[in-house]
Amino acid sequence: MDIKITNDLNTEVLVINKFEGEQTSQELANTYAVEKDNFEGKLGTTYLLHTYGKIPADKILVVGLGKREELDGNKITEALVKTVKKLKQIKAKRAVVDFDGAERYGKYAVIGAYIGDYTFDKYKTQKDHHLDEIGFTKFNEADINEGIVFGQAMLLTRNIANEPAEYATPTKLAEMASSFEGLETKIYDKEDIKKMDMGAFYAVSKGSAEPPKFIHMKYSNGNPKKRIALIGKGLCFDSGGMDLKPASSMLTMRDDMSGAACVLGVMNALNKLKPADIEIHGIIAACENMPGQHAYKPGDILTAKNGKTIEVDNTDAEGRLTLADALCYACELKVDEVIDIATLTGACVVALGTAVSGVMGNDENMIKKIIETAKCSGEKYWELPMYQEYRDGLKSEIADMKNTGTRNGGASAAGMFLKEFVTDDVKWVHIDVAGTAFLEKPQGIFCYGSTGAGVRTLLNYVAKQ
Ligand code: BES
Ligand code: MG
Ligand code: ZN
Repeated sequence: MDIKITNDLNTEVLVINKFEGEQTSQELANTYAVEKDNFEGKLGTTYLLHTYGKIPADKILVVGLGKREELDGNKITEALVKTVKKLKQIKAKRAVVDFDGAERYGKYAVIGAYIGDYTFDKYKTQKDHHLDEIGFTKFNEADINEGIVFGQAMLLTRNIANEPAEYATPTKLAEMASSFEGLETKIYDKEDIKKMDMGAFYAVSKGSAEPPKFIHMKYSNGNPKKRIALIGKGLCFDSGGMDLKPASSMLTMRDDMSGAACVLGVMNALNKLKPADIEIHGIIAACENMPGQHAYKPGDILTAKNGKTIEVDNTDAEGRLTLADALCYACELKVDEVIDIATLTGACVVALGTAVSGVMGNDENMIKKIIETAKCSGEKYWELPMYQEYRDGLKSEIADMKNTGTRNGGASAAGMFLKEFVTDDVKWVHIDVAGTAFLEKPQGIFCYGSTGAGVRTLLNYVAKQ
């Protein structure tokens, strides 16, 4: 789907808007949709009419934007998702969006167009219907271009996360990271990982025939006043390891690299977004958790990069082990802030469901800022507690800690575990997207599969530093 800026309303479908209680900008729509059919214009509703040659466009699609005074960016995104879904349903190929009264929201409109058009049909011989081109009038060019960067970043993330594990291996993720322009990227392989004393990450990778890769991408522009590390959980497949998952829980575990896919999408967008005077590191400890003959075992004691020892209580709590070493590595870079994003715990899904991501960290201000940024970005984040009692559950008789405690409060226990690998001089936020990154059925503006969770929030966060 191409996005363009245009003033030419001669197209297949002209998309106009209607605010509740108001007329539209088109005579025809006012006569048929508003007067004859009482189309109210509630947010995201649509009304289609044929023009029979009365105006250059073949059809007019009227889109409800709700009440004018309640309009915001995320509502425009939602309206555009519904618009594009409707355009796909009627098998339209070209459309021009000519909205009145939404001029400030070009970025959000374009993001919505990308989300609405998306399906993962790479492996279908009969492809889904997609738009060829969507034009926008009246929005400002810079906003449209920013929307394209965001939309394409989400697209890349969703495509990577939707790929089967057979395709999206640690090696593949490393190849992708290396192909991104405008970044300095280093890939560490198995021997390097051992040499860097990443005993926790390495242990998780041992049961798989796929070699692990530690990926470090760096974006730097101008005179960095701030240095941020973004870490994505990169479990290309999580079978549970020796503590094997039941079949139904394992089914979607190709999504366990959604955090990594998010970081790849964000890092690839930086060279186009070009935030100034900032240094951003993208870090992924990529591997599979498999029960192969060299697999790590319950009862093993691992030593992470910072020297702390971990008794393996459950091999299925592997994400935190890979993140432990990635967090140590990030802290050694002496960055100001670290954000990790991970499909970390089933407990987070139980607590918050599939529309809300869990947030924890060691700095209240940073946590607030991330939650606020998420809100403006169309994502829902909710803070989970970090009390000492959750850490108590991780006590081990034979090592510094165990990797799991009780099932109760599991998302917070995982947060407390990660905290052990963050140095006090670094501000850190952890985002648990186990419920939100991958949908087993359509929800809200998203279709089945990856949602690109975190991409909009993290891009907005780094862009407005
Ligand atoms: N990758 C899973 C978490 C997950 C669950 C992601 C559901 C997406 C959807 C993680 O590695 C895991 O297996 N966590 C265990 C931890 C437990 C053994 C303490 C869990 O949540 O059951
Ligand atoms: Mg697991
Ligand atoms: Zn996992």
